Amino acid sequence: MNYKLARSNYRHMVAGVDTKIPLFNGKFVTAINFDNAASTPPLVSVMEEINRFSTMYSSIHRGTGYKSKVSSQFYDEARSIVLKFVNADPLRDTCIFVKNTTEAINKLSYRLWEGNKKTVILSTWMEHHSNDLPWRNKFHVDYVQTDPYGKLSIEDLENKLIKHKGNVKLVAVTGASNVTGYVNPIHKIAELAHRYQAKILVDGAQLVPHNTVNMNPQNPFQHIDFLAFSAHKMYAPFGIGVLIGPQETFNKGVSEFTGGGTAEIVTHDWVVWENTPYKEEAGSPNVMGVVALVAAIKTLTAVGMRSIDYHENQLTNYANQMLKSIPGITLYSHTLPGEPRIGVIPFNIKGIPHERVATILSNEAGIAVRTGCFCTQPYIQKLLSISPQQMEHHRKSRNAPRPGIVRLSFGIYNDYSEINTLGQVLEKICKHPTTYIY
Ligand SMILES: Cc1ncc(COP(=O)(O)O)c(C=O)c1O
Repeated sequence: MNYKLARSNYRHMVAGVDTKIPLFNGKFVTAINFDNAASTPPLVSVMEEINRFSTMYSSIHRGTGYKSKVSSQFYDEARSIVLKFVNADPLRDTCIFVKNTTEAINKLSYRLWEGNKKTVILSTWMEHHSNDLPWRNKFHVDYVQTDPYGKLSIEDLENKLIKHKGNVKLVAVTGASNVTGYVNPIHKIAELAHRYQAKILVDGAQLVPHNTVNMNPQNPFQHIDFLAFSAHKMYAPFGIGVLIGPQETFNKGVSEFTGGGTAEIVTHDWVVWENTPYKEEAGSPNVMGVVALVAAIKTLTAVGMRSIDYHENQLTNYANQMLKSIPGITLYSHTLPGEPRIGVIPFNIKGIPHERVATILSNEAGIAVRTGCFCTQPYIQKLLSISPQQMEHHRKSRNAPRPGIVRLSFGIYNDYSEINTLGQVLEKICKHPTTYIY
């Protein structure tokens, strides 16, 4: 193994990278965070902007004071900045602010629902529960298969589109997997979906923070109809998320939540609803969340999404090489050189439960990883070849140790020296698994 030491050029941009935390033995070390797929720390620019804007903050839309007008203007202009970031069509699309990706997808599921369960939604075997469960109680959901490596089968997607004979309303697919890091060919999928009169939703929770997302590529058949993502996964953890989609989807009908801000005129007998997107954002809007998101978008754009993708891919390749060199480690993600992926690596150590590996990493070296199924249980069951009978057993014996995987996920501020530390601890765990007392 050829060890690299270079630090990340982006480290100074992220808050808390030098925070010291205690180990099990009482010594203090700099915390290492390899759990960025769950949530990223804030950018320094985000914290600065939150502070700066706080002097002008006021409740929006219904206030007449100067600060309220400035805050309202900022909030509404932010929509164009978000639309531009992912090259949405400002004439066709709207940007609805929600809490997170989960709320965005729930909202869309409600707005596309036709009141019966006949309409088909194609989800996939690699979806996060947030892009699976919201569809189940309103639609007939069919799941596109993954191959033995866990990659999406485009062949099965087309077969299912054919099988459902024009009844598929939406193909709901993740842009990048939060388990394996595989990046799906969203434009190819969009073209297929459109060929069979379906629309496409891209769950962008893991893709948008790490890669360029272009909702309107040159080929118009490949455009992305709906996109959802969360700011807390892109260095702006202040409770905001985004749903982008055609205005016409939301113009008719009423939001799943109604109340303040959603209606223009109300009597006890009738209501005139506000226009899109206001009628979709019930209650007082999260202005500070939007301030944070805009600051993050500006910083990530200045760095360049390609540079971010490059840096995180270098880290991923390096970490993969390191993990492969340690006997006892099983990797669950396999990409060919040049195949697109984000910085997510799933693995297990033979004979050691996943939770225990995570505890040792935290106690011995201050390394944060995530373990379990990452709200993507059917995909993990498939990757680990867990049978339906075994899942039945887990249903009945809730206290039995649950299957799972250890996940590393990188952000722009992670660097080689952190991966070296990880490698040293993993090597020790594999060589001397019984020396740890916890
Ligand atoms: C692929 C994917 N989709 C959706 C979500 C849900 O995101 P949120 O918790 O921000 O709603 C996650 C969160 O980890 C995710 O990884």
